[in-house]
Amino acid sequence: MRVYITRRIPTPGIELLKQKEIELEIWDSDEPIPHSELVKVLHNKFDGLYCMLTDTIDKEVLESAGSRLKAICTMSVGYEHLDMVEINKRSIVAANCSTVSSDCVSEFCVTLILTLARRVIDAYNAVKAGEWTTWKPMWLLGFELIDKTVGILGLGRIGFGIAQRLQAFKVKKICYTDMKEVPYAAEVNATFMTLDQMLPVCDIVCIACNLTDSTRGLFNKSAFDKMKKTAVLVNVSRGGVINHDDLYIALKNKNIAMAALDVTVPEPLPVKHQLMSLDNCIITPHVASSTWEARNAMSLLTAENMLTILGGNDPLGRIRV
Ligand code: DGY
Repeated sequence: MRVYITRRIPTPGIELLKQKEIELEIWDSDEPIPHSELVKVLHNKFDGLYCMLTDTIDKEVLESAGSRLKAICTMSVGYEHLDMVEINKRSIVAANCSTVSSDCVSEFCVTLILTLARRVIDAYNAVKAGEWTTWKPMWLLGFELIDKTVGILGLGRIGFGIAQRLQAFKVKKICYTDMKEVPYAAEVNATFMTLDQMLPVCDIVCIACNLTDSTRGLFNKSAFDKMKKTAVLVNVSRGGVINHDDLYIALKNKNIAMAALDVTVPEPLPVKHQLMSLDNCIITPHVASSTWEARNAMSLLTAENMLTILGGNDPLGRIRV
Protein backbone atom coordinates (compact mmCIF):
# COMPACT_ATOMS: atom_id res chain seq x y z
CA MET A 1 0.00 0.00 0.00
CA ARG A 2 1.24 3.51 -0.77
CA VAL A 3 0.28 6.69 1.06
CA TYR A 4 1.06 10.28 0.15
CA ILE A 5 1.56 12.70 3.07
CA THR A 6 1.21 16.34 2.13
CA ARG A 7 3.47 17.86 4.82
CA ARG A 8 6.22 17.25 7.36
CA ILE A 9 4.31 15.94 10.38
CA PRO A 10 5.14 14.80 13.93
CA THR A 11 6.74 11.36 13.93
CA PRO A 12 4.15 9.11 15.67
CA GLY A 13 1.96 8.82 12.56
CA ILE A 14 4.91 8.18 10.27
CA GLU A 15 6.33 5.53 12.59
CA LEU A 16 3.03 3.69 12.79
CA LEU A 17 2.54 3.66 9.03
CA LYS A 18 6.11 2.49 8.49
CA GLN A 19 5.71 -0.27 11.08
CA LYS A 20 2.74 -1.53 9.06
CA GLU A 21 4.91 -1.52 5.96
CA ILE A 22 3.04 1.25 4.24
CA GLU A 23 5.20 2.86 1.60
CA LEU A 24 5.28 6.61 2.20
CA GLU A 25 5.97 9.59 0.03
CA ILE A 26 6.09 12.90 1.89
CA TRP A 27 6.02 16.54 0.79
CA ASP A 28 9.08 17.27 2.88
CA SER A 29 8.33 20.86 3.88
CA ASP A 30 6.65 22.89 6.58
CA GLU A 31 4.89 24.82 3.82
CA PRO A 32 1.86 23.36 2.00
CA ILE A 33 2.26 21.51 -1.24
CA PRO A 34 0.97 23.70 -4.11
CA HIS A 35 -2.32 22.43 -5.50
CA SER A 36 -0.82 21.93 -8.98
CA GLU A 37 2.02 19.88 -7.48
CA LEU A 38 -0.41 17.66 -5.57
CA VAL A 39 -2.37 17.05 -8.76
CA LYS A 40 0.87 16.14 -10.53
CA VAL A 41 2.27 13.90 -7.82
CA LEU A 42 -0.78 11.71 -7.10
CA HIS A 43 -1.30 10.39 -10.60
CA ASN A 44 -2.95 7.06 -9.78
CA LYS A 45 0.00 6.05 -7.59
CA PHE A 46 -1.45 6.05 -4.05
CA ASP A 47 -4.00 4.09 -2.01
CA GLY A 48 -4.19 6.75 0.68
CA LEU A 49 -3.90 10.51 0.92
CA TYR A 50 -2.87 11.92 4.31
CA CYS A 51 -3.62 15.64 4.09
CA MET A 52 -3.85 18.89 6.03
CA LEU A 53 -6.56 21.51 6.36
CA THR A 54 -4.62 23.73 3.94
CA ASP A 55 -4.90 21.23 1.06
CA THR A 56 -7.91 21.70 -1.18
CA ILE A 57 -9.02 18.21 -2.11
CA ASP A 58 -11.24 18.89 -5.09
CA LYS A 59 -12.30 17.14 -8.30
CA GLU A 60 -8.98 17.85 -10.00
CA VAL A 61 -7.00 16.23 -7.18
CA LEU A 62 -9.38 13.26 -7.07
CA GLU A 63 -9.22 12.75 -10.81
CA SER A 64 -5.46 12.66 -10.68
CA ALA A 65 -5.54 10.27 -7.69
CA GLY A 66 -7.74 7.99 -9.79
CA SER A 67 -9.56 4.83 -8.80
CA ARG A 68 -6.59 3.52 -6.79
CA LEU A 69 -7.28 6.08 -4.02
CA LYS A 70 -9.36 4.50 -1.24
CA ALA A 71 -8.66 6.70 1.79
CA ILE A 72 -8.41 10.40 2.52
CA CYS A 73 -7.42 11.20 6.09
CA THR A 74 -7.06 14.77 7.18
CA MET A 75 -4.89 15.69 10.15
CA SER A 76 -7.51 18.15 11.33
CA VAL A 77 -10.93 18.35 12.88
CA GLY A 78 -12.22 20.68 10.16
CA TYR A 79 -12.94 19.12 6.79
CA GLU A 80 -14.29 22.01 4.76
CA HIS A 81 -11.23 21.65 2.48
CA LEU A 82 -12.52 18.25 1.32
CA ASP A 83 -15.05 18.28 -1.50
CA MET A 84 -17.30 15.65 0.05
CA VAL A 85 -19.72 15.68 -2.89
CA GLU A 86 -16.92 14.58 -5.23
CA ILE A 87 -15.44 12.18 -2.66
CA ASN A 88 -18.81 10.51 -2.10
CA LYS A 89 -19.17 9.87 -5.84
CA ARG A 90 -16.10 7.64 -5.65
CA SER A 91 -15.33 4.59 -3.54
CA ILE A 92 -13.24 6.65 -1.14
CA VAL A 93 -13.67 6.85 2.63
CA ALA A 94 -12.69 10.14 4.28
CA ALA A 95 -11.87 10.64 7.94
CA ASN A 96 -10.89 13.50 10.22
CA CYS A 97 -9.36 13.44 13.69
CA SER A 98 -12.08 14.99 15.75
CA THR A 99 -11.33 13.61 19.20
CA VAL A 100 -7.75 14.33 20.14
CA SER A 101 -7.32 18.12 20.02
CA SER A 102 -10.50 19.20 21.84
CA ASP A 103 -8.79 19.74 25.21
CA CYS A 104 -6.02 21.69 23.58
CA VAL A 105 -8.38 23.96 21.62
CA SER A 106 -10.71 24.52 24.60
CA GLU A 107 -7.72 25.42 26.74
CA PHE A 108 -6.59 27.93 24.13
CA CYS A 109 -10.06 29.47 23.95
CA VAL A 110 -9.91 30.09 27.70
CA THR A 111 -6.38 31.47 27.24
CA LEU A 112 -7.73 34.00 24.75
CA ILE A 113 -10.64 34.96 27.01
CA LEU A 114 -8.25 35.62 29.89
CA THR A 115 -5.81 37.45 27.63
CA LEU A 116 -8.58 39.84 26.61
CA ALA A 117 -10.14 40.11 30.06
CA ARG A 118 -6.85 40.86 31.83
CA ARG A 119 -5.40 42.94 28.97
CA VAL A 120 -2.25 40.85 28.82
CA ILE A 121 -1.18 42.14 25.38
CA ASP A 122 -1.79 45.80 26.37
CA ALA A 123 0.22 45.26 29.53
CA TYR A 124 3.10 43.58 27.70
CA ASN A 125 3.16 46.29 25.01
CA ALA A 126 3.12 49.00 27.67
CA VAL A 127 6.14 47.50 29.42
CA LYS A 128 8.01 47.14 26.12
CA ALA A 129 7.20 50.74 25.21
CA GLY A 130 8.64 52.05 28.50
CA GLU A 131 5.22 53.19 29.77
CA TRP A 132 5.59 51.45 33.16
CA THR A 133 6.38 54.49 35.28
CA THR A 134 4.89 53.29 38.56
CA TRP A 135 2.01 51.25 40.05
CA LYS A 136 -1.21 53.08 39.22
CA PRO A 137 -4.66 52.42 40.70
CA MET A 138 -6.44 53.05 37.38
CA TRP A 139 -4.03 51.64 34.82
CA LEU A 140 -4.70 48.66 32.52
CA LEU A 141 -7.84 47.61 34.30
CA GLY A 142 -9.57 44.55 32.91
CA PHE A 143 -12.41 42.38 34.17
CA GLU A 144 -12.84 39.08 36.00
CA LEU A 145 -14.72 36.03 34.78
CA ILE A 146 -16.51 35.55 38.06
CA ASP A 147 -20.27 36.15 37.72
CA LYS A 148 -20.11 36.63 33.96
CA THR A 149 -22.48 35.05 31.46
CA VAL A 150 -20.81 33.04 28.73
CA GLY A 151 -22.36 31.97 25.43
CA ILE A 152 -20.94 29.18 23.32
CA LEU A 153 -21.83 28.62 19.69
CA GLY A 154 -21.46 24.87 19.18
CA LEU A 155 -21.51 22.55 22.20
CA GLY A 156 -19.48 19.81 20.55
CA ARG A 157 -16.30 18.46 22.11
CA ILE A 158 -14.55 21.83 22.04
CA GLY A 159 -17.55 23.85 23.25
CA PHE A 160 -18.07 21.32 26.03
CA GLY A 161 -14.40 21.59 27.01
CA ILE A 162 -14.67 25.39 27.15
CA ALA A 163 -17.74 25.17 29.40
CA GLN A 164 -16.01 22.62 31.65
CA ARG A 165 -12.99 24.86 32.14
CA LEU A 166 -14.95 28.06 32.63
CA GLN A 167 -16.83 26.58 35.56
CA ALA A 168 -13.58 26.73 37.52
CA PHE A 169 -13.62 30.52 37.04
CA LYS A 170 -17.02 30.72 38.77
CA VAL A 171 -18.92 32.21 35.85
CA LYS A 172 -22.57 32.91 36.62
CA LYS A 173 -24.19 31.19 33.67
CA ILE A 174 -23.19 29.25 30.59
CA CYS A 175 -25.54 29.22 27.63
CA TYR A 176 -25.07 27.54 24.30
CA THR A 177 -26.66 27.44 20.94
CA ASP A 178 -26.42 24.58 18.48
CA MET A 179 -28.54 22.80 15.88
CA LYS A 180 -30.37 21.10 18.71
CA GLU A 181 -30.25 20.68 22.47
CA VAL A 182 -27.70 18.13 23.64
CA PRO A 183 -28.24 15.98 26.76
CA TYR A 184 -24.65 16.25 28.03
CA ALA A 185 -25.09 20.06 28.39
CA ALA A 186 -26.41 19.34 31.87
CA GLU A 187 -22.97 18.06 32.92
CA VAL A 188 -21.59 21.59 32.50
CA ASN A 189 -24.76 23.42 33.58
CA ALA A 190 -25.18 24.87 30.10
CA THR A 191 -28.59 26.18 29.06
CA PHE A 192 -29.81 25.94 25.49
CA MET A 193 -30.87 29.21 23.83
CA THR A 194 -31.34 30.46 20.31
CA LEU A 195 -28.56 32.72 19.06
CA ASP A 196 -30.94 35.68 19.27
CA GLN A 197 -31.72 34.91 22.91
CA MET A 198 -28.09 34.28 23.78
CA LEU A 199 -26.32 37.29 22.26
CA PRO A 200 -27.95 40.09 24.31
CA VAL A 201 -27.25 38.41 27.66
CA CYS A 202 -23.63 37.32 27.22
CA ASP A 203 -20.50 39.03 28.47
CA ILE A 204 -18.30 36.54 26.66
CA VAL A 205 -19.19 34.76 23.41
CA CYS A 206 -17.10 31.83 22.15
CA ILE A 207 -17.38 30.40 18.65
CA ALA A 208 -16.62 26.68 18.65
CA CYS A 209 -18.81 25.28 15.85
CA ASN A 210 -18.03 23.75 12.47
CA LEU A 211 -18.12 25.96 9.42
CA THR A 212 -21.23 24.93 7.52
CA ASP A 213 -23.77 26.62 5.27
CA SER A 214 -25.76 27.51 8.38
CA THR A 215 -22.84 28.97 10.38
CA ARG A 216 -21.05 30.82 7.56
CA GLY A 217 -21.21 34.57 8.20
CA LEU A 218 -23.48 34.06 11.23
CA PHE A 219 -21.62 36.73 13.18
CA ASN A 220 -22.51 39.76 11.09
CA LYS A 221 -23.78 43.29 11.75
CA SER A 222 -27.13 42.00 12.88
CA ALA A 223 -25.47 39.66 15.45
CA PHE A 224 -23.08 42.36 16.69
CA ASP A 225 -26.01 44.77 17.09
CA LYS A 226 -27.61 42.27 19.48
CA MET A 227 -24.51 41.88 21.67
CA LYS A 228 -23.66 43.91 24.75
CA LYS A 229 -21.32 46.84 24.17
CA THR A 230 -19.07 45.34 26.84
CA ALA A 231 -19.07 41.87 25.26
CA VAL A 232 -15.95 40.06 24.12
CA LEU A 233 -15.92 37.60 21.25
CA VAL A 234 -13.49 34.70 20.81
CA ASN A 235 -13.27 32.54 17.70
CA VAL A 236 -11.41 29.20 17.74
CA SER A 237 -13.50 27.59 15.03
CA ARG A 238 -13.20 28.90 11.47
CA GLY A 239 -12.84 32.48 10.27
CA GLY A 240 -15.78 32.09 7.91
CA VAL A 241 -18.26 32.12 10.82
CA ILE A 242 -17.56 35.86 11.22
CA ASN A 243 -18.12 38.57 8.65
CA HIS A 244 -14.80 40.37 9.10
CA ASP A 245 -15.92 43.70 7.61
CA ASP A 246 -18.86 43.84 10.04
CA LEU A 247 -16.59 42.82 12.92
CA TYR A 248 -14.18 45.62 12.07
CA ILE A 249 -16.99 48.18 12.20
CA ALA A 250 -18.41 46.74 15.43
CA LEU A 251 -15.00 46.87 17.14
CA LYS A 252 -14.05 50.27 15.72
CA ASN A 253 -17.37 51.82 16.82
CA LYS A 254 -17.16 50.00 20.17
CA ASN A 255 -20.47 48.22 19.55
CA ILE A 256 -18.69 45.27 21.11
CA ALA A 257 -15.66 45.67 23.37
CA MET A 258 -13.02 43.22 22.17
CA ALA A 259 -12.35 40.19 20.02
CA ALA A 260 -9.74 37.46 19.85
CA LEU A 261 -9.47 35.51 16.63
CA ASP A 262 -7.37 32.40 16.18
CA VAL A 263 -8.92 31.84 12.77
CA THR A 264 -9.54 34.35 10.01
CA VAL A 265 -10.45 34.74 6.37
CA PRO A 266 -8.08 34.66 4.67
CA GLU A 267 -5.34 32.79 6.47
CA PRO A 268 -2.82 34.21 6.89
CA LEU A 269 -4.54 37.54 7.51
CA PRO A 270 -2.49 40.20 5.67
CA VAL A 271 -0.50 42.46 7.98
CA LYS A 272 -2.26 45.45 6.43
CA HIS A 273 -5.76 44.04 7.05
CA GLN A 274 -8.05 46.56 8.76
CA LEU A 275 -8.57 44.26 11.78
CA MET A 276 -4.81 44.42 12.43
CA SER A 277 -5.05 48.16 13.03
CA LEU A 278 -7.35 47.78 16.06
CA ASP A 279 -6.14 47.79 19.67
CA ASN A 280 -9.21 45.83 20.79
CA CYS A 281 -8.62 42.84 18.51
CA ILE A 282 -6.07 40.08 19.15
CA ILE A 283 -5.16 37.81 16.28
CA THR A 284 -3.22 34.56 16.61
CA PRO A 285 -2.15 32.40 13.65
CA HIS A 286 -4.50 29.35 13.93
CA VAL A 287 -2.53 27.84 16.79
CA ALA A 288 -5.31 26.58 19.07
CA SER A 289 -4.20 22.95 18.57
CA SER A 290 -0.47 23.74 18.59
CA THR A 291 0.89 21.64 21.42
CA TRP A 292 3.18 18.64 21.16
CA GLU A 293 0.54 16.53 22.89
CA ALA A 294 -2.21 17.42 20.44
CA ARG A 295 -0.15 17.38 17.28
CA ASN A 296 1.46 14.02 18.13
CA ALA A 297 -1.99 12.61 18.85
CA MET A 298 -3.42 14.10 15.63
CA SER A 299 -0.55 12.63 13.61
CA LEU A 300 -1.12 9.21 15.17
CA LEU A 301 -4.91 9.18 14.89
CA THR A 302 -4.74 10.21 11.24
CA ALA A 303 -2.39 7.28 10.61
CA GLU A 304 -4.71 4.93 12.54
CA ASN A 305 -7.65 6.11 10.44
CA MET A 306 -5.60 5.47 7.31
CA LEU A 307 -4.75 1.91 8.36
CA THR A 308 -8.36 1.24 9.34
CA ILE A 309 -9.70 2.37 5.98
CA LEU A 310 -7.01 0.58 3.98
CA GLY A 311 -7.81 -2.54 6.02
CA GLY A 312 -11.40 -2.31 4.77
CA ASN A 313 -12.94 -1.07 8.03
CA ASP A 314 -14.79 2.01 9.24
CA PRO A 315 -12.48 4.58 10.89
CA LEU A 316 -13.22 6.40 14.12
CA GLY A 317 -13.56 9.78 12.45
CA ARG A 318 -15.40 8.77 9.29
CA ILE A 319 -16.87 11.83 7.64
CA ARG A 320 -20.47 11.22 6.62
CA VAL A 321 -22.04 14.10 4.80
C1 DGY B 1 -8.47 21.54 13.11
O1 DGY B 1 -7.99 20.47 13.51
O2 DGY B 1 -9.36 21.62 12.27
C2 DGY B 1 -7.89 22.77 13.70
O3 DGY B 1 -8.43 23.92 13.19
C3 DGY B 1 -6.38 22.77 13.54
O4 DGY B 1 -5.90 23.56 14.55
